[in-house]
Amino acid sequence: MTVPFAPARLLFGGDYNPEQWPREVWAEDMALMRRAGVNTVTIGVFSWAAIEPREGEFDAGWLDDVVALLDAHEIGFFLATPTASPPPWFTRAHPDAMPVRPDGTRLSHGSRDTYAISAPAYRQAARRVARFLAERYGAHPRLRGWHVHNEYGTVDHGPHAAVAFRRWLEKRHGSLEALNAAWNTAFWSQRYDDWDEILPPCATQYLHNPAQAVDFKRFCSDEMLAAFAEQRDEIRAAGPTAPITTNFMLPTWNHLDQWGWSDHLDLVSVDHYLDTPGPDGEAHVAYGADLTRSWGGGPWLLMEQSAAGIRDGARQAVKDPDRMIRNSLGYVARGSQGALFFQWRASAGGSETWHSAMVPHAGPRSRTFEGVVELGALLDHLQEVAAPPHDGRVVEADVAVLWDADGWWSLETPHLPNDDLDYATEVRATHRALWRAGVAVDFVRTGADVARYRVLFVPTLMAVDSDTVAWLTRYVEAGGHLVVGRFTGVADEHQRVVPGGYPGRLRDLLGVRVTEHVPLAPDESQELSDGSTVVQWTERMDPPRAEVLATYSAGTLAGSPAVTRRSAGAGTATYVSAGLTQESLDRFVAALLARHGVRPVLPGAVGTGVEAIRRRGAAGTYLFLLHHGDRAVRVAGPGHDLVSDAPTEPGIVVPAGGYAVVREAPGATWSVTTL
Ligand code: GAL
Repeated sequence: MTVPFAPARLLFGGDYNPEQWPREVWAEDMALMRRAGVNTVTIGVFSWAAIEPREGEFDAGWLDDVVALLDAHEIGFFLATPTASPPPWFTRAHPDAMPVRPDGTRLSHGSRDTYAISAPAYRQAARRVARFLAERYGAHPRLRGWHVHNEYGTVDHGPHAAVAFRRWLEKRHGSLEALNAAWNTAFWSQRYDDWDEILPPCATQYLHNPAQAVDFKRFCSDEMLAAFAEQRDEIRAAGPTAPITTNFMLPTWNHLDQWGWSDHLDLVSVDHYLDTPGPDGEAHVAYGADLTRSWGGGPWLLMEQSAAGIRDGARQAVKDPDRMIRNSLGYVARGSQGALFFQWRASAGGSETWHSAMVPHAGPRSRTFEGVVELGALLDHLQEVAAPPHDGRVVEADVAVLWDADGWWSLETPHLPNDDLDYATEVRATHRALWRAGVAVDFVRTGADVARYRVLFVPTLMAVDSDTVAWLTRYVEAGGHLVVGRFTGVADEHQRVVPGGYPGRLRDLLGVRVTEHVPLAPDESQELSDGSTVVQWTERMDPPRAEVLATYSAGTLAGSPAVTRRSAGAGTATYVSAGLTQESLDRFVAALLARHGVRPVLPGAVGTGVEAIRRRGAAGTYLFLLHHGDRAVRVAGPGHDLVSDAPTEPGIVVPAGGYAVVREAPGATWSVTTL
């Protein structure tokens, strides 16, 4: 059973932690929320000690009061189950339910996220508190959704994990014989004769078995999903209720297989924090939003972002209000049903005292809060975009990029030909090139229906199973244009090399046979015959059964193929054996898109600093124009700008740092002129 997530309006607000404040502050919170147009808060995240002060004894009087106050002010809420932060009593009662690090250190409370996901005592306590909250608040009319836990991701290597891992392995491999073969345990005398001999990948003398390490990642994702599902089932068992989600985390959290998880959520939501204060942050917003929309397969929700700060190494860089607004619109343009933040009010103490918030320490008389008020009013003007189109597809893309949790986990194996090849970096580089080309992008999982995409990118995918090979082959033969990056297909799903030349199972489809990986030194680079610059990685291949698009020009590879394209059926399969720099990748991608007729969302905007995204809605399409550049532009075409409430003919001016959201006339074409 799933509960549809269909808010009639864009949600705006953030994590709200009234338990950290005296009640006088609650009254001010309500007044300020009204002033800012906040319509949704998330309560209860990490509130376990306040809800269940002693094991099995609940005290939710304060939470009743918070809910009543929100209700009186017509503010909706997501209710979190507090299970990401077990209180001190829990550790004392169940020391075995604390997580254990690979080196055997057992963690203790004093921070957050101290739980061993497989410990029966933890699972039982989590179910109990979820059930308590569900029975008390599940039918509340202002409950917008359940926010189960927070950012699942604490990995445990202790005895409970070992037991659960063995159970999981037995299910996956069936027999010890199959496991020994899959893990290639003949290497270094690792053969297992008894399931009880198998451990999580704990601290050991040298390198781990890579198949064991990847299986453990898969297990952890499944185990956390099982824990989530138990809470979800408790909530549902308490009666009809609101949609259920848990917040995924971007950009570096790689503990979950989000595709598999999304199938179990009523709503996909994400926390997204920029990892650079520079202009590349705009591409990062697009990446996070495209990824989450794709996981969700339709409307989704930005559950957390930062109101005014960007963590940049040791410093908290300032995120200016105009950027905060443009970023928020960037998520909404790509299907988020609103913009929520961590957090409403900056904490006066505790571990995240210096994290930014919608109401900063300085209070409402601040640039940050003024920006928040402006965003609230703006989202209120945009309510009509919230209604999704009948087919649910909020963005129309001709290009897709494969995103695969296994792909990331495999590439974490140490001692590869070049350990600098990083999965998330490669996927982001491809997405960045597409973003710079101004085209709309979807992410897809293996096996997805990809017939609608003209071009499908597989930036790198070390381990490939035979179903994936068949899926890619069908895509190409049916007329798709596949672009495969280096070090793809070299291994099977158990990280075992496919012998006979790389890229293993993809040799036939790509028409190449690579005999040697030739990684470059960190300061080394070389040119290809088409002028591209290559770093990090090159490969030696036989004369291909494919057209050669570019050759290496230096060293022992001089003259040998670097980029190839094979026609197969009605489509093509391109192989890029070299590590292109971002600029070269940008050029390569732009040329490829032009060749296959993939057009930017707004061709005139490319190169002006204006990012254009088209969001589909029930009543038509909306063109979001976000100006990250430094010279104002005039945009003209048939439509109506919802921001300025003005017609877009004969034209509107979008200033540097500004934005417009245009309800377009059907089939509208647009001109963009830099002023
Ligand atoms: C998120 C988390 C929040 C807060 C925030 C700070 O990962 O869900 O509770 O810690 O980070 O950036």
